[in-house]
Amino acid sequence: HFSTTPSAQREIQSVIVVGAGLMGAGIAQVAAQAQLNVTMVDLSPDQLQKGRDIIAASVRRVAKKKFPDDEGKQSEYVDRTWSFIETGTKAEAVVAGADLVVEAIVENIDTKQKLFMSLDAAAPKHTIFTSNTSSLPIAEIAKVTSEDRQARFAGLHFFNPVPAMKLVEIVKTDKVDTETYQSLVDVTNRIGKTSVACKDTPGFIVNRLLVPYMMESLRIVERGEASLEDIDVAMKLGAGFPMGPIELSDFVGLDTLKSIVEGWAREGKVEPAFVKPVKQLTDLVAKGHFGRKTGKGFYEYV
Ligand code: CAA
Ligand code: NAD
Repeated sequence: HFSTTPSAQREIQSVIVVGAGLMGAGIAQVAAQAQLNVTMVDLSPDQLQKGRDIIAASVRRVAKKKFPDDEGKQSEYVDRTWSFIETGTKAEAVVAGADLVVEAIVENIDTKQKLFMSLDAAAPKHTIFTSNTSSLPIAEIAKVTSEDRQARFAGLHFFNPVPAMKLVEIVKTDKVDTETYQSLVDVTNRIGKTSVACKDTPGFIVNRLLVPYMMESLRIVERGEASLEDIDVAMKLGAGFPMGPIELSDFVGLDTLKSIVEGWAREGKVEPAFVKPVKQLTDLVAKGHFGRKTGKGFYEYV
């Protein structure tokens, strides 16, 4: 094995994914499929089991697609993927061996800062820290770590469903160094994704465009100009999107959508028209109807 990596830059071999939810499980899976050593961490064995279940269903699907007519090769692929995954409940206890940390825990600034503060003290100097946050400024999360670490701290933003979506946004703060950025480009390629670079701005690239689009689709409904179904059909057949904006809102999670918009409103950096609340969204979230994950959002899922 030989590497094309310049000497100042280490090749990433071991990754800790903190958070074994929808995103963390997907990130752990694609890293293991690329034969990186992965430790997936969550708060309890129960949460870790949920993460394992997400991976099990998805990796079987990937294996079937890779080797459609060969069950032997499918199970070999599945077993090999699992052989690269370990699990744990204390990130601080396993971070000593990590080249890269990918944080995919709950979207809360205090919780994320608390995690990174304790990881900073326990991690080797070279370890790169990243967050998969959808809506929080990376520099805000990173500021609780040392100056040295902030030079090795970036956003690494994956998309749902992680095994299927081919993009990763690499978010560069003002402090991140070139070697760190290059290491993240390399590791993203090895995972089989394409990366794009973006500054640490609200929504980065994808959500900055997607969220105002989804919100405006809800306002079309609010103004009574078209039905949910017709809006979705229109954007699928008229613009070639795989899902219409209302389906996509349910898929992303209405709680997530609402909290992204509210975060932007507080920060005050985007057009005020983009963050104008939509009553039906507020009402659905208040009732606990978050979309696909709760079985009901704008549509019902059985
Ligand atoms: N695991 C493994 N593979 C999966 C998968 C999973 N969980 N989900 C889908 N796939 C694969 C399938 O195997 C299939 O592969 P091929 O095309 O190579 O055969 C492919 O993805 C398409 O899947 P399906 O044919 O089953 O279904 P589909 O064509 O209806 O696509 C979809 C499903 C990929 C989800 C598609 O509808 C889509 O792209 N939707 C838009 C998703 C999107 O925009 N995501 C981003 C949301 S924003 C975000 O995530 C950022 C944030 O911060 C909130
Ligand atoms: P999720 O609720 O499915 O999973 C979060 C997991 O983190 C849970 O299993 C929870 O037990 C665990 N957790 C919470 N605090 C923890 C801690 N201190 N230590 C270890 N584990 C902890 O959430 P998700 O949808 O996977 O989102 C995770 C992150 O990814 C968020 O920052 C979110 O904004 C971002 N994101 C989400 C999406 C999406 O479409 N869902 C897309 C891109 C990015």
